[in-house]
Amino acid sequence: MISLIAAIGKNRELGLGNAMLWHIKEDFKHFKETTMGHTLLMGRKTFESIGRPLPGRHTLILTRDRSFKREGTHTVHSFEEALKWCEERGEEHLFIAGGGEIYKQALERNLEDQLILSYVDFEGEADTFFPDFNESQYDLIHKSAFAAGEKSPAWELRVLKATPHH
Ligand SMILES: NC(=O)c1ccc[n+]([C@@H]2O[C@H](COP(=O)([O-])OP(=O)(O)OC[C@H]3O[C@@H](n4cnc5c(N)ncnc54)[C@H](OP(=O)(O)O)[C@@H]3O)[C@@H](O)[C@H]2O)c1
Repeated sequence: MISLIAAIGKNRELGLGNAMLWHIKEDFKHFKETTMGHTLLMGRKTFESIGRPLPGRHTLILTRDRSFKREGTHTVHSFEEALKWCEERGEEHLFIAGGGEIYKQALERNLEDQLILSYVDFEGEADTFFPDFNESQYDLIHKSAFAAGEKSPAWELRVLKATPHH
């Protein structure tokens, strides 16, 4: 199973200056609970922005830099290498965790079985965006809404399953 997991603004905003655009505690909790015990694949820039491997999960970092190494993570140089790594270790759920470049290439390759998207009630400046995808090629299998906090915007979780024709 391959899931793309992302939090996106109203115009598919993902980030600015290699950082996130909002801080939503419940969304972080959802990300943690959903991915715990599994493997995350992320681009080198997203890893640099997080700065450390996330506990309880394997972290695969995609980079073209052959000398790239970070403690507690595994470096890969292609999607194929990442998939092979999962297969060899019997990982049954890979989470593609961004950023923009990685989501784009994953969707182009139709790698995803599902999208786990947090739609954030945010509109603003961004330099990284989630690709413009066609929602009609997915079945909505879960939806839940979360109210705004004192300092955090409202958001809605949607799980979209890829249809056989996508
Ligand atoms: N809202 C969200 O859910 C969310 C999630 C994740 C990230 N983000 C945000 O997204 C932004 C970062 O995204 P980004 O698009 O700038 O960068 P990114 O996708 O995280 O990383 C891009 C890097 O990945 C490597 N790469 C890309 N394609 C590759 C391929 N085919 N083979 C090997 N390596 C490849 C390259 O690393 P090298 O340059 O080292 O070769 C490239 O520079 C940040 O603002 C972050 O906060 C948001």
